[in-house]
Amino acid sequence: MIENLIAELERKREKLKELGGEDRRKKQHDKGKLDARERLELLFDDGIFMELDPFVKHRCVFFGMDKKDIPAEGVICAVGTVNGRVTFAFSQDFTSAGGSVGEMGAKKMVKTIELAARAGAPVVGINDGGGARIQEGVDALSGYGHIFMANAKYSGVIPQIAVIAGPCAGGAAYSPALMDMVIVVDKISQMFITGPQVIKAVTGETISAEELGGADVHFTVSGNAHFKAPTDKEAINLVKLILSYLPQNWKTLPQSSTAPSADIIPELDKIIPIDPKQPYNMKDVINLVADSNTFLEFYAGFAPNAITGFARIEGKVVGIVANQPSVWAGSLDINAADKISYFVRLCNAYNIPIVNLIDVPGFLPGVNQEFGGIIRHGAKMLYAYAEATVPKVSIILRKAYGGAYLAMCSKEMGADFVFAWPTAEIAVMGPEGAVNIVFKKEIAASDDPEKTRQAKIAEYREKFSTPYFAASRGYIDNIIKPSETKVYIANALKILETKMSEKIKKKAGLIPL
Ligand code: HXC
Repeated sequence: MIENLIAELERKREKLKELGGEDRRKKQHDKGKLDARERLELLFDDGIFMELDPFVKHRCVFFGMDKKDIPAEGVICAVGTVNGRVTFAFSQDFTSAGGSVGEMGAKKMVKTIELAARAGAPVVGINDGGGARIQEGVDALSGYGHIFMANAKYSGVIPQIAVIAGPCAGGAAYSPALMDMVIVVDKISQMFITGPQVIKAVTGETISAEELGGADVHFTVSGNAHFKAPTDKEAINLVKLILSYLPQNWKTLPQSSTAPSADIIPELDKIIPIDPKQPYNMKDVINLVADSNTFLEFYAGFAPNAITGFARIEGKVVGIVANQPSVWAGSLDINAADKISYFVRLCNAYNIPIVNLIDVPGFLPGVNQEFGGIIRHGAKMLYAYAEATVPKVSIILRKAYGGAYLAMCSKEMGADFVFAWPTAEIAVMGPEGAVNIVFKKEIAASDDPEKTRQAKIAEYREKFSTPYFAASRGYIDNIIKPSETKVYIANALKILETKMSEKIKKKAGLIPL
């Protein structure tokens, strides 16, 4: 008797593996996509996972749905290990009802997120579906409401990583948007709130689905995606790499790896061009300071005038925030401000110390920037650094001008250590601009205005275009040789391992949004 029951269970299990059937799986593969189960097999160690709720069924009776059996309700929920660490995941099955999410599928996803939070383990969401199941009407909308609620509730509790491995249309896109990180897949991801047809009908604009919601647009323009992968297979591998930089939950620390002790890096002494207007590539500095091959750029395609990413220093995970002098001289615009503020908050949520590499001439001037609210966006950076209690170490390499000097985490904004290279220039603005304002009348009245202007520039440069004035006031903790940078950062991080921080009691602060 029991044999029959076991045989029946085995049959049901085998059936589930077929997903939406041979034909639909072939179609999925023909699009260059893995299916929902293959993706999970790739994610979990040895392809092994425990499935959650495989036998859940929808209870919709409208539009012929009462006769429609949807395997696993169109979403495979699972728990397993990734690099030996417990991880939860849900994977939408496009071959079953187009991966659409109804009342019961949503319940499965919410249950997975809640179990992950209870276990204190990350959750990975693989999105590949048509969004809210149309036949289920408000039941499907309510389902998504519960998903959004769970995403928001556990934000900052456990890492939540979303992969857009197919369509993710309509309001459904708000679930990945509420997760910590979004990975898009080249030529495969399609993410928008209102699709091309709706836009055409309402505004008359014509645009293809790829141009509107493809991987590139979210990676480089909208800022909705933090990572881009060439295939869904590589997106899953990227998830595993990202998880290696994150702790299991907010109460734990990221795992350290073994690495050689920090040492002098002679190349850094020659990295900054003599001419302060000459650009250089800040990524060269980052790759020298970080343990070899550990820098993983976050938001690489968005606001390239700023750089954010995870790295390791002496094996310990750090978040790097830097200006990029080779793009707009590294000045901060609206997008860079959003990018940095978000990354700082992400690091703070997951106990990742922040290292700031500063070479910033200021906020980007422009009518668009002012109209777009650069004040409000720039304020996010100040807020994010001010509220971050993780260790914060700032290195001023060259320019640190005006509000941008403060917004990149100066001493006042809570940097625990600030070190400056001898090339550092810390001032309200650059010499030329400053002299033109302060000595305007004197220059105009002089016999040789250009000579007077140059003399004033030289005077200003001597006073402020060195770190010694700031050091004399204690705004920086020390002036260091560039080659000593990694040693100073590593020491600072060791000192700060037991950092104490106190929060002012209040209900909720109001970060400018
Ligand atoms: C029910 C759906 C569905 C949906 C797709 N399907 N989306 N079923 N509800 N939302 C079904 C199709 O009927 C089809 O079933 C199968 O999935 C495959 O879909 P196709 O259209 O044949 O595939 P394709 O041409 O690749 O196009 C995929 C697609 C398109 C781009 C996702 O189906 C589409 O635009 N779907 C609707 C997207 C949408 O507007 N969703 C609602 C979003 S609002 P058969 O059986 O014929 O193969 C939303 C709100 C969330 O999500 C909550 C907000 C608050």
